[in-house]
Amino acid sequence: MPEPGVRPSDFRFHCIDCSHLSDSASPDYRCPRCGDLLEISYPEWNKSGTSSRASGVSANDLKSRWKQRRLSSAPTDLSGVWRFRELLPALNDRHVVTLREGNTPLYEMPQCARIAGVPHLSAKHQGMNPTGSFKDAGMTVAASFAHHLGYRWIACASTGNTSASMAAYAARGGMRSLVLVPEGKISWSKLSQALDHGAVTCQLRTDFDGCLRLLQELVLRAPVHQLNSINPFRIEGQKTLAIELMEQMDWQLPDHIIVPGGNLGNSSAIGKALLEMRDLGLISRLPKLSVIQAEGANALVRTLREAGGKRLISVNAETRATAIRIGNPASWKKAVRVLEATGGACEQVSEVEMAQAKAEIGTEGIGCEPASAVTLAGLKKLVKQGFVKAGESVVLILTGNLLKDPDFTIEFHRGDLFAGTPQESAMTKLSRLRRPPIVLDATLDEVLRTLEQADKTAPSG
Ligand code: F0G
Repeated sequence: MPEPGVRPSDFRFHCIDCSHLSDSASPDYRCPRCGDLLEISYPEWNKSGTSSRASGVSANDLKSRWKQRRLSSAPTDLSGVWRFRELLPALNDRHVVTLREGNTPLYEMPQCARIAGVPHLSAKHQGMNPTGSFKDAGMTVAASFAHHLGYRWIACASTGNTSASMAAYAARGGMRSLVLVPEGKISWSKLSQALDHGAVTCQLRTDFDGCLRLLQELVLRAPVHQLNSINPFRIEGQKTLAIELMEQMDWQLPDHIIVPGGNLGNSSAIGKALLEMRDLGLISRLPKLSVIQAEGANALVRTLREAGGKRLISVNAETRATAIRIGNPASWKKAVRVLEATGGACEQVSEVEMAQAKAEIGTEGIGCEPASAVTLAGLKKLVKQGFVKAGESVVLILTGNLLKDPDFTIEFHRGDLFAGTPQESAMTKLSRLRRPPIVLDATLDEVLRTLEQADKTAPSG
């Protein structure tokens, strides 16, 4: 993979708590000294004192190199992750497992901008990745390193998307995969992806947090490689979302980036990318990175409000956004740090606010899964609070594809989402957004009458 004049980025494992540095990591990716999480650091980048350089290349050269690679048809250049390989740990090409991930669109969202009360709103749609979620960007890097290390089995605990992605990359890389998911608490679409790609899929009678605990024990007993976002290679791949975003914006920074928060790997990755890009001179300041959680799965919100970000406050998670139904987020410390470093906020939204935002995003012709929609619901709150100011530009990170959770969408439009729950009455105010399917006799008259009636109502009610 190295090109003339480019040094691959040598890396080390760095403990986020005690700063212990090492060349290798144990299977659970925990610091051997204090047990905290590891991150990947690039000692070479800081060698030249004032001006850091990745792979010995200046910021401007990196930008033009990345652009040029778009013309190439090499698999690593067609990947929207490996295209940015100077900012990733070095790996020989023959180990790269890629599905041409990344390269996701950045959409303007004029209707949602009006609804939220901001002048410039865009959405970077990570649901347009090969398996339909942002996980693919991290998975290509973590699966490639698992391949490089010679693992036969890779494994994860998941609320669905990680397992779908991991199963696909395992299959592409000729590895076996083991999936641990909470029984009855992930969408069938995501489960079907894992099955289709040949994963050994275990539905455990516990929640996501229970699955992750079990996996952490398993990797110490069996020769399986864990690919949850505790695995720092995942974080490195997910960083490229932010690099690609900046490139798409011609390196003109937005004022705010807003991301959903579950296990908090993605916010940590985006934050790490922003800080590294600033240190390398690719960007001159930091956008504020804000994290939005569901009220019923608000561990980070409570950790910041009730413990000043100093210790984790776990919760018993409950939300229809099953992707972020997580009460004990593994990467909470990393997320607290990036929020502090970028000056971002952390907010929570109700189930109804989330359902409304999802429908509003849908009317733009851009579908997403419920967990992604917390970003728009959160933005509305941040505008009301004055945290997002008039005239500021905002990018939402949509993490998953609409087709990931069709049950939620269908129940919403049919009007039985949250039926029999305390949210039921609040849902009535969203009836103008509902478009239930209409069952008719198969006659021209019936269809024409329906068309005439529909024509009298505005698209959003
Ligand atoms: N959005 C979607 C669609 C997700 O699938 C997830 C997490 C998140 C947001 C939250 O991201 O965990 O990095 O803070 N899904 C994981 C999974 C946990 O197993 O698929 P996070």
